[in-house]
Order: sequence, then structure tokens, then C-alpha cells
Amino acid sequence: MGRLKELRKYVDKQLNKLDDDKRNSAIVHLYGVSLAATMIAKKRGQDPELASMAAMLHDMHAYKTGSYDDHAHKGAELARKILDELSITDKKETDIICSAIYHHDDKLTIDSPMDEVLKDADVIHHCMNDLSKEVKEKERVRFDKLCDEFGMNGESEGSKMTFDELLAKIRAKAAKADVTGRDFLAVQINITGDNGGVFYVEIKDNRINVEPYEYNDRNCAFTIDMGNFVKLMDGKLDPVIAFTTGKLKVEGDMGKALEFSKLLK
Ligand SMILES: [Fe+2]
Ligand SMILES: [Fe+2]
Repeated sequence: MGRLKELRKYVDKQLNKLDDDKRNSAIVHLYGVSLAATMIAKKRGQDPELASMAAMLHDMHAYKTGSYDDHAHKGAELARKILDELSITDKKETDIICSAIYHHDDKLTIDSPMDEVLKDADVIHHCMNDLSKEVKEKERVRFDKLCDEFGMNGESEGSKMTFDELLAKIRAKAAKADVTGRDFLAVQINITGDNGGVFYVEIKDNRINVEPYEYNDRNCAFTIDMGNFVKLMDGKLDPVIAFTTGKLKVEGDMGKALEFSKLLK
């Protein structure tokens, strides 16, 4: 019997001691995270078997005690005991698995590559097991990055738009905007990709101008691809999240950039 199978047999035995409800959600989560961890590890050149083993054990302490209080740190201790008892890993492998479990709840920090595999696998399961549930704010940045890494964003309608269509859309929007009494604002937008191009939006003397040229005395410049820019305009992508996940690059005055991004919506 393979060692992953042996570990799963042990985990199943432990989970069988739980009430039906708890046991079902524990099985769904541990096996779900285990599969996700295997895939992520394979993609990133990490050991998929160790990733899968770490995932099978990562929340065992919480399931066993019914408490999530410090469950990652306590879970690492428990995992060490289990792995010692089963003798299916060497010391180095046990350390790698226990480190991943120890850090798995620190979703806002970046740790070793294998630690990151488990955190991301956990996030994938939280975010994709039930798509009717909204992604939690603390997991959004990590989940967005994962969707990019695994090409799970699909082709949005906007990404097929031509540059001229985009310009027409911006101009139609600009015509409706009330900029009376607003301060001067000049933003250059660089749309990357095959259907990309450059244009500027200028607010000056109570007027808003959109022209397909660069703007040398601009307050700031945005660099973004077509699909994400259209999402920004349609309010489907938050500008701050776009910026923190690297989908949007901003150069120049950040205050003005924020002012402009609010105007876009
Ligand atoms: Fe956990
Ligand atoms: Fe978990």
C-alpha cells in the first residue's frame, strides 16, 4: 500500500469517530484540499505526494477537538505524532509537512513554497467548493492570484473589444459625466495586448476630453489589459484589488489615480 493511501486509511478511521455532519464536511474538505494541493504542487515543481499528505492532516486537530483555536500550530504537533506513529516519512519530509500545517492559517503572509501550496489549496477549496458563497475578503487577493496562475478567469466579453470600441464606450461615458467645478485631471491609459493602444482622459475647464494620444503633462498613467480595463469600467473589478494583484500598474500621482478610478465606475 502506498504511503498516501496508508495515511488516508488512518485519517478515515479518525474521522469515522465524528458525528455524521461533521464527518462529511471534514471528508469533503480534507480530500478536496488534498486534490488541490496535489495539482498546485505539481504545477510549481513541489512534491505532490507530500503536499497531499499535509492537506490530509492540516485540519485534523480542529476536527478532533471541535475547536479552531490555534488549530494550525496545534495541528502541526498532532501531525508530527501521527507521522511518527505511522513511520511513513523521513525526518525531512515530516518537517516539510508539519511546517506547511503550522503556517496554513497565515494567509496574509508568504512562507516557504510548500507552505504556500497548502495555504493556496485551502483557499481554493474554501472559494470553489460552494460557488454560491461570496469569496471572503481575507482570501480574495490570494484567490485572484490563483485564478490568474491557473487561467481560471476565462475570456471576458470585454477582452475581445477593439480599441476603437473602447474609445467609443469611454466617450459615451464621459459625455454623461458631470465634471462641473472639478479640478484639472489628466490620465493616460496604456491598454496592453493585441487590441491595445494609448489614450488620455482630461478634465479641464469643466469639460472632459478623451483622445487617442499620449499626454506628457499627465497626473498619472494606468497600464492594464483590455479585459481588466473593461471590468474596471463596468464595476466588476475593484481598482484597489486590481492594483494589489498587479493587474493594474499605476505611475505618477496615486491620489489622482484613485480619483480617476472612482470616476470610471
Ligand atoms: Fe485550517
Ligand atoms: Fe482547511
